[in-house]
Amino acid sequence: MRRWPRIPASEITPRDRYFDRRQFLASMLATLPVTKHLVTTSDPPTPYKTVTTYNNFYEFGSDKGDPAKYGGAFKPKPWSIAVEGACHRPGVYTLEDVLKPHALEERVYRHRCVEGWSIVVPWIGFPLGDLLKRFEPTGDATYVELVTVKRPDEMPGQRGALAALLPWPYNEGLRMDEAMHPLTLVAVGLYGEELPNQSGAPLRLVVPWKYGFKSIKSIVTLRFRDTQPHTTWMKEAPLYYGFYANVNPAPTNSTFRDQSTERRLGDFFMRRTLPFNGYGDDVASLYTGLDLRRNF
Ligand code: MTE
Repeated sequence: MRRWPRIPASEITPRDRYFDRRQFLASMLATLPVTKHLVTTSDPPTPYKTVTTYNNFYEFGSDKGDPAKYGGAFKPKPWSIAVEGACHRPGVYTLEDVLKPHALEERVYRHRCVEGWSIVVPWIGFPLGDLLKRFEPTGDATYVELVTVKRPDEMPGQRGALAALLPWPYNEGLRMDEAMHPLTLVAVGLYGEELPNQSGAPLRLVVPWKYGFKSIKSIVTLRFRDTQPHTTWMKEAPLYYGFYANVNPAPTNSTFRDQSTERRLGDFFMRRTLPFNGYGDDVASLYTGLDLRRNF
């Protein structure tokens, strides 16, 4: 895998821009210093306010403002994660246990939603692969499934009339080689801050070459599997959404929308969408021989 930054150092947004007044803060995360800084785009980061007020997190409602508006009652601490399935170290791990051995990195990634908008986010996190290795997956683990918390008392999108929005709990999945890819990130913060509830506190996935819906929030279960998980949006609209969901500007068999362009939030003009969201040099080889038109 290629090392970043590939863009000249002179073009990298200065680290100070995020870290000047803000130390990477807050109780638990203060003990975990950010040790690396990886910028994968020369595009400027989308402002914090935009990234945290224009969200998809249907557990809090389907409008873009709902997660910020209704996320306040959600309690991301204490937190634990159940590790299940084909591995030698299943169990229930506290968030502290999960985070402890990992050095945190800042990674500036592009994020492209299947709805046609995009943002650039300075995430704080660590590679999912480093976490998965600790549970010693067996040879049967060809996929990993991830599941979001179900708490109707704290998540208005999961109760009353809104409960029918999606089949709960939200789940997602990756092929094991995708999960182990160094770009696949577990994020615990953004812009040098802990993740706010609307962004998927206390930890979420970020898979920058796939449509945003793969980047599941507020994860409570990791399950190693020998079969492909049947994921939320596949259940909801199989003609629109597939398992792979690689960003693909070319025509595919998905009947959702033309994916050849996108609007960066804050921009007036649309821009061309790049194959694999611009990460093709690093990830295209994962899909050699796979028909990407059919496997949307
Ligand atoms: N995770 C859960 N649990 N519930 C959701 O509704 N929405 C997905 C993804 N993860 C979603 C989720 C979609 S469609 C997108 S585009 C991204 O989260 C949005 O992440 P952001 O709000 O941090 O930009």
